[in-house]
Amino acid sequence: MTIEVQGVRRAFGDVLAVDSISLTAAPGEVTALIGPNGSGKTTLLLMLATLLVPDQGAIRIDGLDPVTQPTEVRARIGWMPDGFGTWDALTVREVLHTVAAAYRIPPDRARARTQELLATVHLEDLGDRRARVLSRGQKQRLGLARALINDPSVLLLDEPASGLDPRSRIELRDVLRALAAQGKTVLVSSHILTELQEVADRAVIVARGRSLQTQRLDDDFVSTGTASWRIDSLDLSRLTDWLADHHVPARRVGGGLTEVEVSGEENAARLLADVVRDGIRVTTFAPSQGALETAYLAATEDRR
Ligand SMILES: Nc1ncnc2c1ncn2[C@@H]1O[C@H](COP(=O)(O)OP(=O)(O)OP(=O)(O)O)[C@@H](O)[C@H]1O
Ligand SMILES: [Mg+2]
Repeated sequence: MTIEVQGVRRAFGDVLAVDSISLTAAPGEVTALIGPNGSGKTTLLLMLATLLVPDQGAIRIDGLDPVTQPTEVRARIGWMPDGFGTWDALTVREVLHTVAAAYRIPPDRARARTQELLATVHLEDLGDRRARVLSRGQKQRLGLARALINDPSVLLLDEPASGLDPRSRIELRDVLRALAAQGKTVLVSSHILTELQEVADRAVIVARGRSLQTQRLDDDFVSTGTASWRIDSLDLSRLTDWLADHHVPARRVGGGLTEVEVSGEENAARLLADVVRDGIRVTTFAPSQGALETAYLAATEDRR
């Protein structure tokens, strides 16, 4: 179920929230929507989720138009908003049962599905707890379970990782990969580029309401796109002199590390070999910025 967005625009009064966004998200893939605050990501996702009507342009989800066929679209999508109210008086389990009932899922099936999803998002122990008392991260996980209740083929997730602790983030990543492996179309907005690089197949960069660039995040991109590396040595002053002598752009950063600008893994490997060959004892050598971060910063440079 492909998501196709063509030239979509949406204004709120005189604020042009989405100016012109076009993108395609394919089944079996995780597509990331990245862009600065206020660049129109949430507005776009709301339009995809049938909750807001575009002023211009076309959206198709599995060929269906959210404007004219909202019921059909809603049956196919799972939507996780970036912050959402839960029904405070209900328990976690009751929240999921209520959402299931809204999708007309029979009670038996709803109970089984709820149990399954509580396990997926690791909220089994909190099933009988009132949703109101959940922590922020636990609420996020309930939001994900809620988005999955109707077994949607298209998932629209707005900042799903926000508020999650490191373990929950890794688990979220695994859940998203597993959903894509089942052939679902996953579109996820986020600011955490290093994590997105590991989970997403494709990234759509937006700024000021416009889609700027779509980047495939394959091995080639990662190995050629990384542009800066961090290096630490037991012989710091010798390292500094060596870099200066060899005209390698470098600057000191925190933790005794030096950041060097070298494009691509090939050149980085060569630099490391040369430094070591000249007897400088290197203790750390690692990418300091992911390739996606580099692409994002370059694309949005003049658009803050
Ligand atoms: N209902 C609204 N009324 C007026 N302006 C709005 C409304 N919703 C969004 N905007 C404006 O539209 C722009 C895009 O907002 P949007 O929430 O889509 O950005 P975003 O990319 O999701 O940002 P963030 O990364 O902070 O979540 C912003 O300038 C915002 O102030
Ligand atoms: Mg947003």
